[in-house]
Amino acid sequence: MTARTSDIEKAAGVLRAGGLVALPTETVYGLGANAEDTAAVARIFQVKGRPPSHPLIVHIGGAEHLDEWVQDVPATARLLAEHFWPGPLTLVLRRGPRVPLEATGGLETVAVRVPDHPVALALLAASGGGVTAPSANRFGQVSPTTANDVRAELGDAVDFVLDGGPCEVGVESTIVDVTGDAPSILRPGGVTREELEAVLGFPLAVPSTSHVRVPGQHPSHYAPRAWVVLVEPEKVIAEAELAQELGHQVGVFVPASFAGAPVKAHAVVAVPTSMSAYARGLYGFLRELDQQGCDLIVASLPVEEGLGLAIANRLRRAAGPRPTV
Ligand code: TXA
Ligand code: MG
Repeated sequence: MTARTSDIEKAAGVLRAGGLVALPTETVYGLGANAEDTAAVARIFQVKGRPPSHPLIVHIGGAEHLDEWVQDVPATARLLAEHFWPGPLTLVLRRGPRVPLEATGGLETVAVRVPDHPVALALLAASGGGVTAPSANRFGQVSPTTANDVRAELGDAVDFVLDGGPCEVGVESTIVDVTGDAPSILRPGGVTREELEAVLGFPLAVPSTSHVRVPGQHPSHYAPRAWVVLVEPEKVIAEAELAQELGHQVGVFVPASFAGAPVKAHAVVAVPTSMSAYARGLYGFLRELDQQGCDLIVASLPVEEGLGLAIANRLRRAAGPRPTV
């Protein structure tokens, strides 16, 4: 089911009244509020259970609105916006006065993007402003890629869920910081490093997953309930079978190169050969293994090029150390 015009009008009304709307984007579903309504923005943090210092992305309806929200836009940012918007690219720029500090976690920079989804764009046009939206999951959990995932995750905590069908890209946007002298990738995502470098004409720095430099990027994130263990591709099946024998309910991501091999495990995911299909399916696979009652997921990392970089980043962080409760 995809949203009708009346749903979009209703969602825009909810935003104007200070409510929260879950909206589809091409990457993942977002939990949206009117970016200029500080009480609504505060509610996002409350619903997600997210620390208030973790900045949000402001979604806008088109590159032509960029200067309403930010200041000092460098030429590289214009170039990237022109090439990749609407699309899965977020630019970090200097905050303009229209963006409340509540949305930026107190930072003088703000993350902005134009989503490439007809329903999101229609909502942004109908609301007439900016929509701050983190992924519509509880803090640290797997991001939702369908309207049903959002309902399962947030239930009544969200005032309206706009259904725009399953997300096409499946992993979050690539975040590029363009405030400094040299642009850098803060989070790999739907636009690949290679695509960015082809447009810019020079290489980009990519942070290593083990260093938490960006607010809101903790080692454990995008995590299912089951523990995630990463091993070499050729060891995935043996490790999974051993853990299953030891009494775990094991979910296994069988690498495409071992497709069809019989595996003695609780649940099996056949990893798609195509990286875009893998990215599109990734969060759904993790949710599915949780739903099937797995307590351990055994997987390997894809080659870290193209979309494989973002997939590996999410898997590493799903496997990252978790806060002790
Ligand atoms: O694809 C996406 O980007 C999705 C959809 C809904 O647009 N949104 C998303 O939002 O992934 P969220 O809140 O889950 O992740 C946004 C991340 C934050 O965790 C933070 O690391 C980074 O964006 N961020 C936001 N503002 C920033 C800033 N001013 N400086 C550095 N990083 C920032
Ligand atoms: Mg998120």
